[in-house]
Amino acid sequence: MAVIGVLTAGGDCPGLNAVIRGVTVRAIEVHDAEVVGIRNGWEGLMQGNTVPLDRDSVRGILSKGGTILGTSRMDPYVHGGGYASCDGTLRSNGIDSLVVIGGDGTLRTAMRLAAEGMSVVGVPKTIDNDINGTDLTFGFDTAVEIATDAIDRLVTTAESHNRVMVVELMGRTKGWIATYAGIAGGADAILIPEHEYDIDEVVDTIRRRHRRGIRHSIVVAAEGISPPYGYETAEHRKDAFGFDRLGGVGYQVAAAIEDRTGFETRVTVLGHVQRGGSPTAFDRVLATRLGVAAADLAVDGASDVMVALRSMEIEPVPLSEAAASIKGVPDDLYDTAATFFG
Ligand code: F6P
Repeated sequence: MAVIGVLTAGGDCPGLNAVIRGVTVRAIEVHDAEVVGIRNGWEGLMQGNTVPLDRDSVRGILSKGGTILGTSRMDPYVHGGGYASCDGTLRSNGIDSLVVIGGDGTLRTAMRLAAEGMSVVGVPKTIDNDINGTDLTFGFDTAVEIATDAIDRLVTTAESHNRVMVVELMGRTKGWIATYAGIAGGADAILIPEHEYDIDEVVDTIRRRHRRGIRHSIVVAAEGISPPYGYETAEHRKDAFGFDRLGGVGYQVAAAIEDRTGFETRVTVLGHVQRGGSPTAFDRVLATRLGVAAADLAVDGASDVMVALRSMEIEPVPLSEAAASIKGVPDDLYDTAATFFG
């Protein structure tokens, strides 16, 4: 009987539980395999922290946010001895193949482990939607829905008070959430890392609206935009694993707009609200399909691949595609958004 291990690593994301459920039920019901959950990402693999998964343990989790397995930013190549620090847990649990659900960093680690001989199938996850090789990542739709709802709410209060509202959304290096939610919410300006911005152009747009008698504006800023208003690395803003902690650029953008225009400007930093809670139906379906496909591939003995959404189909693609680059918002999509600025 095949034994499949499953872990979730990196930041959490709505739909992780749907993938865990998909892998587990498919492996047990269709392949008569066993499933072992690994707690807290790579940390659990290094420390032997595991839990058997069966139909009962994944019952009722489809609609739940977060991950029942827990997650961490530990990495065996950074915080452990690489492959050697994971091997013991695989052996003691008889794990033949590992399903790794994670973002670009996690998938790069999975690729290194696969190169050293571990059987690994990746499942791309992030609300940021920036993983190369897949059309979309689960969690993104949920985050966009939450961000769009926030913009809709900010529009009505902005209208009532004749204010400029700056909304800061997640997007570490790419501005997918900002662009989609900005389009869906009818933003008057969208600032994203992959598109150079000029604050004076933003100010001109807002002033133009005022001249036309529209005295409220919505400016969406991705958290990862570059200086001068973007965030700059500071030692005290690193997390326990050395990752930059973003958040706060919205205040700088708002101050720049208010200083130049004199228009009352307020800020909303949406933060982790975008990452928590129940996944949308779209994300539940996508995550389920990815989990099922990952279980099939793992039982078949595939390795060094991840399951990806391509033109509405789920396909295996080499992990190297995810590792090759970070996927940004294409110019034509940004151009569509920009058509409606002002
Ligand atoms: O990578 C997903 C993400 O949501 C980023 O957009 C954000 O910068 C980051 O996670 C924040 O994660 P944490 O607060 O867990 O470090």
